[in-house]
Amino acid sequence: MPDPFYITTPIYYVNSHPHIGHAYTTIVADIFIRFRTLFGEETYFLTGTDEHGQKIAESAAHSNISPQEFVDKMSQEFRDLWPHLHIENDQFIRTTDPEHKALVQRALQYIYDKDEIYLKQYEGLYCVGCERFMDEDELIEGLCPDHQKAPQQYQEENYFFKMSAYQNWLVQTIEKNEDWIYPQRYRNEVLQMLKKPLDDLCISRPKTRLTWGIELPFDTNFVTYVWFDALLNYPNALDWPNGELYKKYWPNAHHMIGKDILKTHAIYWPCMLKAAELPVFKKLVVHGHWKSEDSKMSKSLGNVVDPLVMKDRVGVDALRYFLARNMSFGDDANFTEELMVTRYNGDLANNIGNLINRSISMSCKNFENQIPPKGEFGDLEQELHRSFMEGIEEVKDYLLSFYLHRALEKIAFMSSLVNKYLDTAAPWKLAKQESDRKRLGTVLYTALDAVRIIVQLLAPVMPKKMEEAWQSLGLPLAQITEAQFDIGVLPEGLTLPKPAPLFPKVKAIVPAEPDKKQLEEKTNTNEPESSEITIDQFCKMELKVGKVLSSERVKKSDKLLHSQIDLGEEKPRSIVSGIAEFYSPESLVGKTVMVASNLKPVKLRGVLSEGMILCTDDGTQLTLVEPSAEAAPGTMIR
Ligand code: MSP
Repeated sequence: MPDPFYITTPIYYVNSHPHIGHAYTTIVADIFIRFRTLFGEETYFLTGTDEHGQKIAESAAHSNISPQEFVDKMSQEFRDLWPHLHIENDQFIRTTDPEHKALVQRALQYIYDKDEIYLKQYEGLYCVGCERFMDEDELIEGLCPDHQKAPQQYQEENYFFKMSAYQNWLVQTIEKNEDWIYPQRYRNEVLQMLKKPLDDLCISRPKTRLTWGIELPFDTNFVTYVWFDALLNYPNALDWPNGELYKKYWPNAHHMIGKDILKTHAIYWPCMLKAAELPVFKKLVVHGHWKSEDSKMSKSLGNVVDPLVMKDRVGVDALRYFLARNMSFGDDANFTEELMVTRYNGDLANNIGNLINRSISMSCKNFENQIPPKGEFGDLEQELHRSFMEGIEEVKDYLLSFYLHRALEKIAFMSSLVNKYLDTAAPWKLAKQESDRKRLGTVLYTALDAVRIIVQLLAPVMPKKMEEAWQSLGLPLAQITEAQFDIGVLPEGLTLPKPAPLFPKVKAIVPAEPDKKQLEEKTNTNEPESSEITIDQFCKMELKVGKVLSSERVKKSDKLLHSQIDLGEEKPRSIVSGIAEFYSPESLVGKTVMVASNLKPVKLRGVLSEGMILCTDDGTQLTLVEPSAEAAPGTMIR
């Protein structure tokens, strides 16, 4: 039996209202918890709010209320939202809880007593949005890339934690544990950050500048730096060092975070834990960001997506499904209502909902509202059963390794296999001949039994909808959380209640004015609802052989290379590619590469890019796609 499983979300800043990004992390953590419970593990799920620091103090001042009143009100918004999204956390922690404050002071005092905290005069650039000091080379044109604001220059006396002493230990820990930071690309990113010497971490703010924080236990003129306070919420909630919850759950702690808070979680946090002599967490699970209509979501752009508005469009469970299915875990994803409705109609209404509905309706109609007798399974059934047994194992593996979108893709695929099975076995034809009645029973039983498995696999993602589906199979609700994935165990003869469509089709969204033309163009090309494209669409893409003439690093970027590439044209193309972690500029020169050559030119970090070099991407490594045969620059690729 695996160790009891502990999952945490980041604790959310209360300076803004909850949005779809916060909802995503919390929903996905909830899904992982429900799956683990289904597979028989003991679980604990923590979320909460991060309530100290300059950003919050400024927002409270802006609203003309005291910080305490402000955080009470805003924290409640988060706490109230989660049940509306069918999220069932075990605990909700607030950094203003007295128990949390006491444990932060305990950790600080412990590290101070070990002589790992010292006072010094400091000058640095502080980004209030990130609530941290930034290195000059993290800025782009003098601005914080995440908040698009110039950081403030501070010169003050502060306490520092000797984080630099842990650099070698941290690098070794990451190198030893391949899966400690997941997906791999974020592990690589952290190792890259650790190539530079680590600075000591400023862990205080003088009260002359900020009073809204936890007082340092060894100097009352200072409050604790908000990240040092916030990160400790994870073991504090379990009441370390002696709490029963701590002993039970901390050994298998999984932190789920968005990519923007990688540095604080993958660098500051393990060093803090090591200094406090607490075991490090088991795994950091990092996801990408939701964009709104392909742009970063921001208050100033007015494109922040409200989860409550979206849930009213397709229902909570379908929103959960969309979020979990459409973000390829670790990458950024695009949120539009249109995409959400397309996914809903494609996967839920037409595929899974339709399967549930038609299997139950046909059984009701032909077997007097009862589950038919299973009879004898033939070749068609055996083949479906084999695919299901493989499918169930694959889904489990994907889920246990946090490959959520893949698991859902597989479940939808399993559902389409059953739909195909029904199309081939054609029960509506069998129903016409009394002599085929036994076979009809077997076909409908097989479909219903497969539905039972699909419903159970999807229950962690769509808990309420799947409860409805489970009950419409005549099964007792209590059994939905007892994993029973054996084939052919659906009891025969159960009474089926009258079925109602589970996912009625939703009308497609007509985008607002400026997009109408685009929509028309799409409709004219008969673009299908799925991710498939037609041969005409594919042919619009121009792929050519290119030869790299020169290449250099893009200034202030660890990832980008700027190359001049001969495509057999009058002058070479200027192309920027995100491959600097995998190829040095020198190693690229002279290589023959494949280039997408008719992409609209863009500027990346101020450098013109007139195409894209094609690479394979296994989630860890980018590898150039090189033609196997000699080909002159400019040769078309078909
Ligand atoms: N308070 C800190 C976390 C402290 S944890 C010890 C914080 N809070 S936050 O409210 O700004 O962000 C919380 C989480 O929301 C982060 O993981 C962040 O990545 C995530 N998201 C914020 N915007 C997002 C999207 N647009 N899409 C997906 N997740 C996003 O950082």
